[in-house]
Amino acid sequence: MAYAAFRSIGAYVPQKILTNEDLAEMVDTSDEWITKRTGIKERHIASDDEYTSDLGVKAARQAIERSGIALEDIDMVVCATISPDYFCMPSTATIISTKLGLKNVTAFDISAACTGFVYILSIAKAFIESGMKKNVLIIGAEKLSAITDYTDRGTCILFGDGAGAAVISATDNKDEAIVDVHTGADGEYADLLMTPNGGSGSAHDALEEEAGVFMQMKGNETFKVAVRTLTKDVKEILEHNNIASESIEHFVPHQANYRIIKAVGDALKMTEEQVVLTVHKYGNTSGASIPMAINDIYEAGELKAGEMMLLDAFGGGLTWGSALVPFSPLK
Ligand code: COA
Repeated sequence: MAYAAFRSIGAYVPQKILTNEDLAEMVDTSDEWITKRTGIKERHIASDDEYTSDLGVKAARQAIERSGIALEDIDMVVCATISPDYFCMPSTATIISTKLGLKNVTAFDISAACTGFVYILSIAKAFIESGMKKNVLIIGAEKLSAITDYTDRGTCILFGDGAGAAVISATDNKDEAIVDVHTGADGEYADLLMTPNGGSGSAHDALEEEAGVFMQMKGNETFKVAVRTLTKDVKEILEHNNIASESIEHFVPHQANYRIIKAVGDALKMTEEQVVLTVHKYGNTSGASIPMAINDIYEAGELKAGEMMLLDAFGGGLTWGSALVPFSPLK
């Protein structure tokens, strides 16, 4: 049987920085309020002519270069995004594939909001373990600034742009393999976080008013459900695989809010050294946040071959997920 190994990581962050002070000039808020409630200090914003696929391509090139796998051997590209270049079609994954020069790949996007990276990890694992694919490029890429309402102080302080990518490839060596991936969803909570306009469910007059495809959120309720759901899910994946939280080298949570990360980390008795934190500098980049955070520890020289990562995420849907992933580079 083939196993799936996490070979490499790459990321890209747009140059422009939007600080809390900048936001305080746009809406009624302050650096103090944002820092205290979220831990976010700044986020990066893509330029007008920089699309989600452009961010994804840059992250993907880096991940492929670092993987030791030839570009032409990539046989599937999956992109997690809620801010695709074009709603409906073509998929951002197909655009990324073409920009990379890939031919004859299977390419598609998935929509699982901030849990997107965990979902595409499970897809890569399943395709590889079934023998259908050998080298899968997975990308979380978001230009959330394109779907953020910069007059709504409840949401615009949270989100940023960026991309992260990883190459997952087949191996016979079980020690290198992704141990487990959990994914879940519950549409009962759909109204906590949504983009109500622009789809077939939109009110017709909303479309006529060109209300835009902005995110709307019930922040306080989302916060509570997130802490509850994540703590339960992460405990379950550890117990199910008989792994103690002490043996996790890197706990890489979705970077939504420092207080959520702290609450879940404390419930799991994770130390500060174990918890990977990037929310202060990137904000919430949805499906891109986990691979961007993994890339940060990789580039800091803190992610070594064989070390175990525990990923966890939640997002609109609601969706949630967790994964136990050893870092298994080929070179
Ligand atoms: N600056 C200043 N005040 C703000 C504000 C801002 N940016 N946003 C909201 N407020 C105000 C509210 O209007 C409210 O005022 P009121 O008491 O006069 O009515 C007050 O702050 C408290 O609002 P509340 O929504 O209860 O705050 P909160 O402590 O829940 O913090 C969030 C708001 C959004 C930071 C927090 O709920 C959160 O992070 N939730 C999770 C969101 C998330 O992670 N979403 C992504 C999921 S992947």
